[in-house]
Amino acid sequence: MKIALLGGTGNLGKGLAVRLSLLGYEVIVGSRSEEKALRLAEEYSKVAGVEVKGTVNSEAAKLCDVAFFTIPWEHVFTTAESLREELRNKIVVSPLVPMKKENGVFMYVRLPEGSAAEKLAKTLDSKVVATFHSVPAARFADLNEKIDWDLPLCGDDEAKVIVAEIAEKMGFRVLDAGPLRNSSLLESVTPLIINIMARNKTGELAIKFV
Ligand SMILES: NC(=O)c1ccc[n+]([C@@H]2O[C@H](COP(=O)([O-])OP(=O)(O)OC[C@H]3O[C@@H](n4cnc5c(N)ncnc54)[C@H](OP(=O)(O)O)[C@@H]3O)[C@@H](O)[C@H]2O)c1
Repeated sequence: MKIALLGGTGNLGKGLAVRLSLLGYEVIVGSRSEEKALRLAEEYSKVAGVEVKGTVNSEAAKLCDVAFFTIPWEHVFTTAESLREELRNKIVVSPLVPMKKENGVFMYVRLPEGSAAEKLAKTLDSKVVATFHSVPAARFADLNEKIDWDLPLCGDDEAKVIVAEIAEKMGFRVLDAGPLRNSSLLESVTPLIINIMARNKTGELAIKFV
């Protein structure tokens, strides 16, 4: 299975690229810049010991079966509009967290569409699954870290099962949290976690339901 990481040159992209390629997925790191994609893909390949490809976002979207949008939410929708044809009928994973900081406090930004994942679904003609919001990028990119965290997921069709299988192979306990219209609940967990981290000086936290 070919997995594109659109904007995969950033924080979340690194852990995804390395862990997915170690599991045998063909990973294509996408970027606005081909040079940057190739450079980061080479870096990830060295960490994983497996080839990771790099190219521009449009080519990565064209080649893939599944695409993760690992781009900050403020910028993602223009990119998504430009990739509508390449991603038609494909599985798209949204880890997007619409969030802002006001007076030192992180707050969830409620979009008119309901959530960033719902807006992405309206922008694209793809099967959108919302998940990975609560994954702390630096710990996730550290291969010494055992990924036994919980991963809630929202989606409307069989795409949810495929994304769940991918995440389970990485070690997550995947928990079905309902249809895509529930995805604002998942997105809003991240500012909650970040406020807890900042105020209690805990370092990066992941989640487990016990
Ligand atoms: N960081 C986390 O711990 C974490 C955890 C869970 C979910 N998330 C979510 O995952 C997404 C990615 O987070 P991140 O921290 O990995 O982001 P990031 O490192 O800040 O950015 C990722 C990539 O987005 C691309 N990008 C930046 N501005 C852009 C623009 N104007 N247009 C198109 N692409 C642009 C850049 O790639 P190029 O310059 O190569 O194009 C950049 O390397 C976000 O939506 C975030 O809410 C993050």
